[in-house]
Parts: sequence; C-alpha cells; structure tokens
Amino acid sequence: MVVIGQIGQTMDGRIATVTGQSKYVNGPAGLTHLHQLRALVDAIVIGVGTALADNPQLTVRLVHGKSPARVVIDPRGRLPHQSLVWQDDGVRKIWVVADGVNVQRLPQVEVIPLPAIDGRIDPMQILQMLSAEGLQRVLVEGGADTVSRFMAAKCLDRLHLIVAPIVMGSGRSSFHLHPIEHMDQAQRLKVQTHLIGNEILFDCDLQQQRSAITPV
Ligand SMILES: NC(=O)c1ccc[n+]([C@@H]2O[C@H](COP(=O)([O-])OP(=O)(O)OC[C@H]3O[C@@H](n4cnc5c(N)ncnc54)[C@H](OP(=O)(O)O)[C@@H]3O)[C@@H](O)[C@H]2O)c1
Repeated sequence: MVVIGQIGQTMDGRIATVTGQSKYVNGPAGLTHLHQLRALVDAIVIGVGTALADNPQLTVRLVHGKSPARVVIDPRGRLPHQSLVWQDDGVRKIWVVADGVNVQRLPQVEVIPLPAIDGRIDPMQILQMLSAEGLQRVLVEGGADTVSRFMAAKCLDRLHLIVAPIVMGSGRSSFHLHPIEHMDQAQRLKVQTHLIGNEILFDCDLQQQRSAITPV
C-alpha cells in the first residue's frame, strides 16, 4: 500500500484564510500536479472539514485519467447528501463514520463504520479498511487536521507539500501536531524539491518512519 499526503500552502505556512477559504492557494501548475496525483491513486481521502468548507468534486479534470474513489472521514455523519463528493457519477464513494453513528444512507454511497475513541478513528484502521476494499494507492488530500493525523500516526509514505509564492499573514496552519519544546524534537524531513511553475514542490520521503499495515 502507498499513502501520499498533500498540502498546498503559502510561504507563511497557511492552507486557508481564517474563514476557511482556500480556493485557490496554488496556481495552475500546483493544481495540475494535484490532478496528476489524483489520476495515479485508487482513492482520495479527505476530512469532513474540507468537504464542508470547499464542497470539492475530487475528480480528475485538468489531466487525462480516471477519477479515483472518494472517501470522507466523517465520524459524526455531518456531511449533507447534496455534497458534490456524493454526486452519482459512477465513481466509488465511501463515507467513514464512527461505530454506532447512524446516517441516512444514499444508494450510491457505501457507509463504513469504524471504531472511534473520543471521536477519533485510528488512521491505521482507515488504511486497513481501504486495503481490504482493494484500494491500495491512497491520496490524503486534506485538510490540515486529517493530513496531520495520518502523519502523526506514521501512516504516510510521502508528503507532497507545494509552497505558493503567497503571504497570507493570518489563517489556518498546514499542520496540527503535538507541541514541542525543543528544536531537536522537530521532524527534519528527507526531501527532494522541484520547481513547478512559480511554486516549489517538497516531495518528502516518510518511508523510514512509516508503520507497517497489518491485514485485518
Ligand atoms: N490548501 C490545501 O491544500 C487544502 C486542502 C484541503 C483543505 N483545505 C482547507 O482546509 C480547511 C479544512 O481543514 P481542517 O483541518 O479544518 O479539516 P479537515 O482535515 O478537512 O477535517 C477534519 C475533520 O475530519 C474528521 N476527521 C479527520 N480525520 C479523522 C480521524 N482520524 N478520526 C476522526 N475524525 C476525523 C473530524 O471530523 P469531526 O469534526 O466531525 O470530528 C475532523 O474534525 C478548509 O478551510 C479547506 O478549505 C486546504
């Protein structure tokens, strides 16, 4: 299984304004790169915060390729039926909710309950479920909270961080990780950098810290 996280951020480490608007931090080159990533994977995973804030389609439109399955982590089952991720376009859709949460089902959406502790579902269990469903190449597309949870759980093989030449000066941070006191506790990542248009892609290799996925 291969799991890639992606974040499009400003030079000052923001993924959205204070009001949650993020369309679009990245310019055409960064967006095309995102669509290329989508076309390479079996499934895109987002948190419900992104689905509510952006109402994204999560389809492949800017490059040739097949749209992957769409997976929304929504432990409380908050996402409205009319959300674009649920549109009936023949692409597989999975609604991940916490065990015991009842959602009104849609015919085209599979509802998969997973155990949650204090509303938190272990990212490893989400990957085990996706692997069992035959979805082996996964893109965790956002937002900050969701990507950070996968990163903290050592569930990412790579992180594609694209920095746009924008300064927001305020807004939502790219990562939500445990606070540290000393610089030597900060993660210094193994990266390759690429210039795409006027944006910089940091292709971060996290494989050394990645936890193994044990079959369910
Ligand atoms: N620039 C970019 O690359 C980019 C990409 C995507 C989104 N965005 C922006 O980011 C913002 C949304 O990001 P966000 O960090 O606020 O939210 P988010 O990551 O999209 O969603 C977070 C929510 O998803 C649920 N969730 C995710 N993982 C979970 C887990 N392992 N267990 C249980 N619940 C889990 C929780 O829902 P509950 O709250 O119901 O518990 C959590 O609060 C928006 O403003 C959007 O525009 C930017």
